[in-house]
Amino acid sequence: MDFVNHRVAQEAAKDPSEVYTGLVTPLNIILLLITLYTTYLLYKPSPPVSFPREPPAIVFKTFTPRTLLHFNGENGKPVYLAVRGRVFDVTSGRNFYGPGGPYENFAGRDATRGLAYHSFDEEMLTKDLDGPLDKLEGFGPEEWESLQGWEERFNSKYMVVGKLVAAADA
Ligand code: HEM
Repeated sequence: MDFVNHRVAQEAAKDPSEVYTGLVTPLNIILLLITLYTTYLLYKPSPPVSFPREPPAIVFKTFTPRTLLHFNGENGKPVYLAVRGRVFDVTSGRNFYGPGGPYENFAGRDATRGLAYHSFDEEMLTKDLDGPLDKLEGFGPEEWESLQGWEERFNSKYMVVGKLVAAADA
């Protein structure tokens, strides 16, 4: 019993700061830092949630060769062209089809025949904007194949925004 009393007295006599010094070990410091960092991660303010902007709604429209003509990219207007009755929005390819571009002749036009024949000639384009559509007569296997290649490219690159019909069918 004497021993116990003696130990109690010994402990009571100890400088309280010694107890704290014993806690300040490298391991404890690391554990403390980890705890603080984890707490920070848990409670740090999260950045405001931003939702991706919705793409503009696509309104599928019916065009005639005459109404399509408006979409030639001039004065900042969109650029559309038609391939086999489907109207593509090729505005992102403005460098190709916009004013001054190498393929501007196709802007606002039915480009089917020109693409199939790899030709910019005027007669590839529908002359009478109020007449019937190009019936694609005279195409051989080479033209159909070439056209298919272009359509695949357009399908993967551009949006279809409408269909092309003759003025009489609009
Ligand atoms: C001297 C001959 C020609 C050269 C050097 C040429 C060159 C090019 C080049 C470098 C591209 C871009 C390919 C890419 O990176 O996507 C391109 C695309 C194109 N070329 Fe030509 N081309 C020529 C003739 C023609 C002709 C005769 C036509 C007529 C149909 C044509 C129609 C197109 C079309 C429609 C595109 C696709 C543009 C797009 O991706 O929207 N090219 N051409």
